[in-house]
Amino acid sequence: MSRYFVTTPIYYVKDAPHVGHAYTTVNADALARWHRLVGDDVFFLTGTDEHGQKVARAAEEQGMTPLDWTDQLSPRFAEAWAGLDISNDDFIRTTEPRHAAAVQQFLGRVHENGYIYKDTYRGLYCVPCERYYAVDELLAGNLCPDHHIPLEELEEENYFFKLSAFEQPLIDWYAANPDVVRPESKRNEALSFIKGGLNDISITRTSIDWGVRVPWDDDHVFYVWYDALINYVTAIGYGTDDERFAGWWPSVHHLIGKEIIRFHCVWWPAMCMAAGIDPPGHVQVHGWLLLGGAKMSNSSVNRIAPADLAAEYGVDPLRYHLLRDVPLGSDGEFSAEGISARYNSDLANNLGNLLSRVATVVGSKCGGVGPAPDPGSRLATVAGEVLAEASAAWEAGAPHLALESTWRLIRETNAELESAEPWKGAPGPAVDAVLGSALEVLRIVAILVVPAMPSSAEAIWGRIGLDGSPAEQRLPAAAAWGGYPGGLPVEKGAPLFPRRKD
Ligand code: MSP
Repeated sequence: MSRYFVTTPIYYVKDAPHVGHAYTTVNADALARWHRLVGDDVFFLTGTDEHGQKVARAAEEQGMTPLDWTDQLSPRFAEAWAGLDISNDDFIRTTEPRHAAAVQQFLGRVHENGYIYKDTYRGLYCVPCERYYAVDELLAGNLCPDHHIPLEELEEENYFFKLSAFEQPLIDWYAANPDVVRPESKRNEALSFIKGGLNDISITRTSIDWGVRVPWDDDHVFYVWYDALINYVTAIGYGTDDERFAGWWPSVHHLIGKEIIRFHCVWWPAMCMAAGIDPPGHVQVHGWLLLGGAKMSNSSVNRIAPADLAAEYGVDPLRYHLLRDVPLGSDGEFSAEGISARYNSDLANNLGNLLSRVATVVGSKCGGVGPAPDPGSRLATVAGEVLAEASAAWEAGAPHLALESTWRLIRETNAELESAEPWKGAPGPAVDAVLGSALEVLRIVAILVVPAMPSSAEAIWGRIGLDGSPAEQRLPAAAAWGGYPGGLPVEKGAPLFPRRKD
C-alpha cells in the first residue's frame, strides 16, 4: 500500500472562504478521495494561517485580542469545508500549541545548523502581502504591485535566513527531480528565479508580538510565512513523532495557487534543507478563478461564498464544475452561465438521464429488477479504456481529463441505448442484456465519480440496488466488467439532477 499526503495552503483568516479557496480545497479533496479509492493510505491536511500583522491589526480594529478574533474566524473555514463534503483528515491552526512547538524546533534546528544570523533590516513593507518589497518590484510612487497602496518604511533588527547558501543546492535539486513542480512552466518560473540569484531573507519581527516566539531570543517572533510553511510538517509529527513523520515525509503533494510559488518552490525547499530534512516531494501549482478577468479575492466586491453556490446548484454540481471546467494549472473565468451549462450538459442530460431512463425501462420491462450485464458488451471495452485513462489523469493531476474520460463512457452508453431502444423491445434476454450492461456502467461510473461527487455516487449506488458504498470499493478490481450481480431492485426515484431552465 502506498501513502498519499496531500495539502492545501493554510488560508488567511481574514474573512470566510470564497470560491477561489474552495477551488483548491475541492481539488485536494478529489485527489485524496481518488487515492483512497485505489487503496492508498491517505492523509489530507488543510487549515488556517493566523499570525502576522494583518491579523493583529484586524483584531485591534474590532477591539478584540488576535486569538479571540481568529477563534471566531477559523471555524468558518472548517464549516465551509464540511458543507462542501471535504474529507480532510486534519485541520491545522497555526495558533495551536502543537504548531508553535514544531516551528520552534524546526527553526531552532536551522539556527543550530548555522543558517540564521542577526542584522538590521530597512525596507518597504506591504502589510496585506505580509512582505517587504525591493524598489524595483514596485509600481510608480512606491505602490505595492498587488494592492496598489503606498508601502510603509520599516526598520528592524531582524534575524535572517541564509537563503543565498541554497542557490546551488536548489538548482541541483531541481535538476535531480525534474517533476517536483508541476506544470513545467511553473517549475521553470521557480528555477529561473533561483538562477537570477537569491538574497538572504529576514525571518523575524520585533514590531509585533502576534506570532511564534523565537526560542533563542524572546524579543522576536517569526515572520508569518516562516511559521506558516512549517504547518505541513507539524501535522505529521515533526519533532514529536519521528516514526509518523518519516512515514509521510517527503512524499507530500502540496497544492497551491500560482501567487505563492516563490514561498513553496524556493523558500520552503531551502528551509527543509537547512533544517536537515528532505525538501517536499511534489508541488502542484494551479491558476486562479477569475471574476470579470480579475482574480477572485477577499477584497473583490463580488467574492462568492461557496455555500451560496451550493444552495443554488447543489454541492456535487459545484464540485464537479470546479474540477471539470478549470484544469489545474490554468486560470478560469467563473460565471453562473458556465456552471449552469455544465450542469445541464453533463449532469442533467447525460448522467442523470442515463440513470433515470435505465431505471424507468427496468421498471417497465423487468418488473423493477435489474438484470445482469452482457459479458460481451462493447461497453466493457470502453469501460476498461476509461478506467485506464481516468487513472492516468488523476495520477497526472488532471481531474478535468479524468472526468472527461468518464463522461465518454456515459455518452457511449446513452448512445447504445438509443440504438438498441430497449423501451420498444419485448421483455426477454435481448432487452435484459442491454439494460444489465447499462446498469453495470452506472455501477462503474458511481465508483469513478466518488472523487468529484461523493454523495451523488452514493445515491446512484443505492438506486441500482447495491449495498455498501462506492467509496468503499477498491480500484482497479472493483471496476472489472461484470461486477453488477443482477437480481437487485432498481429504484426510479426523483431525477438526481433536474434540468435547469436558466
Ligand atoms: N496563508 C497563505 C498560504 C500559506 S501556506 C503555508 C495564503 N493564504 S490565502 O488565504 O491568501 O490563500 C491563498 C490560496 O487560496 C491560493 O494559493 C489558492 O490556493 C487559493 N485561492 C485564493 N484565491 C483564489 C482564486 N481566485 N483562484 C484559485 N485559487 C485561489 O496565501
